[in-house]
Amino acid sequence: MRKILPFLALAVAFTAYCGPKLSSQVAYPEGYRAWTHVKSLELKAKHPLFKDFGGLHHIYVNNTGLETLKKGGTYPDGSVFVFDLMDVKSDDAATAEANRKVLGVMYKNANTFSATGGWGFEGFKGDSRDRIVAGKHEACFGCHASEKSSDFVFSKYRN
Ligand code: HEC
Repeated sequence: MRKILPFLALAVAFTAYCGPKLSSQVAYPEGYRAWTHVKSLELKAKHPLFKDFGGLHHIYVNNTGLETLKKGGTYPDGSVFVFDLMDVKSDDAATAEANRKVLGVMYKNANTFSATGGWGFEGFKGDSRDRIVAGKHEACFGCHASEKSSDFVFSKYRN
């Protein structure tokens, strides 16, 4: 036992050291196209944020977050929202989707992301797995912070 204890202590220390680092990455939301579609919105050229956020926004939520979106309150750990931002092709008659600009993600883990309301933020460029936020969660949270009464989520539920 006396020989095992130092190893145990080392294992615990190692896990404590690596754990938060590994889990502070927001994973790519595999399968999100089969989640609940929350809403869509088109942000047009006259909007001040058109450069970064112009296009069609499709918002999705996973099953873990759906109940809280409907009822309100604090989202449970594991809740995920996706912000699928598509470029558009428009003329006088129609607006159609073009290429994906960015896939935005919010992932709830109250402990890991306590500095940004319990949410980890990430953006994946186009259809790639290239990370845009890469740990700078505050850049996104700065804006979402205004939505404290709905646990930092802008979108409201609709039928
Ligand atoms: C300028 C303010 C602003 C910034 C900065 C911002 N967001 Fe948002 N975000 C919004 C608004 C407004 C919505 C509501 C939905 C919409 O616009 O279609 C939203 C919605 C979302 C949603 C869907 C959940 C919800 O709150 O409705 C996700 C996911 C998201 N944003 C991720 C991000 C990520 C990732 C970043 C950083 C790369 C980011 N946001 C930066 C304003 C912002």
